[in-house]
Amino acid sequence: MRIETETLTLKDGRTLTLRTPDENDAQAFIDYMVKAAEDTHFLIRYPEEISPTLEKEKEIIMENAEADDAAWFSVFDGDKVVGNCSICRYRSHLKVKHRCVFAIAIDKEYWGCGLGEILMKKSIAKAKEMGFDQLELGVYEDNERARALYRKMGFEECGILPRAYKLKDGTYVGEVSMVRFL
Ligand SMILES: CC(C)(COP(=O)(O)OP(=O)(O)OC[C@H]1O[C@@H](n2cnc3c(N)ncnc32)[C@H](O)[C@@H]1OP(=O)(O)O)[C@@H](O)C(=O)NCCC(=O)NCCS
Repeated sequence: MRIETETLTLKDGRTLTLRTPDENDAQAFIDYMVKAAEDTHFLIRYPEEISPTLEKEKEIIMENAEADDAAWFSVFDGDKVVGNCSICRYRSHLKVKHRCVFAIAIDKEYWGCGLGEILMKKSIAKAKEMGFDQLELGVYEDNERARALYRKMGFEECGILPRAYKLKDGTYVGEVSMVRFL
């Protein structure tokens, strides 16, 4: 699903563009995903696990733009992707089609300026508009910044899966499940 293109002004005065990515953004999108995976261990993949071909990435971007049960809110600083927030239906089976999965990652150079909050508010509004009953996510137990933002946006913590992640140094980290009823 496509979103409306908008100009965003951050708390520090930087001006960014919010829009749906298109095929021409595929390389910028891959670069952003690698950078975000290098910034912290809070995403599911290590940087070296992110290696789609340009063609595959274009395909994913266009599938998302055309889907009627998913939306990406991508943030650009010029041609560079500096953040993305996605919502998509969990599964289409009758018993679970009311559930929407949420994900977000922002380039570290753009943290702490209100961008996370802006993207979450837009995603919550869009998920409501699309008719979902709830937004769901899983977050690393040690990701205090994200957990604080999610709570501020009305998500409730509803359980922890112990040892959901195992880092390269052997450290296990639990995953907190969170839900935001719409
Ligand atoms: C989590 C993330 C999306 C937050 O984005 P952000 O743009 O920095 O967030 P904002 O500037 O909008 O901050 C919003 C709220 O986050 C919380 N927050 C911000 N900095 C914080 C910190 N250092 N410690 C704890 N909470 C913090 C606060 O509740 C803040 O609200 P406030 O400004 O009114 O105090 C961003 O840090 C990120 O992409 N992290 C890496 C990827 C990631 O962890 N994704 C989530 C995977 S589940």
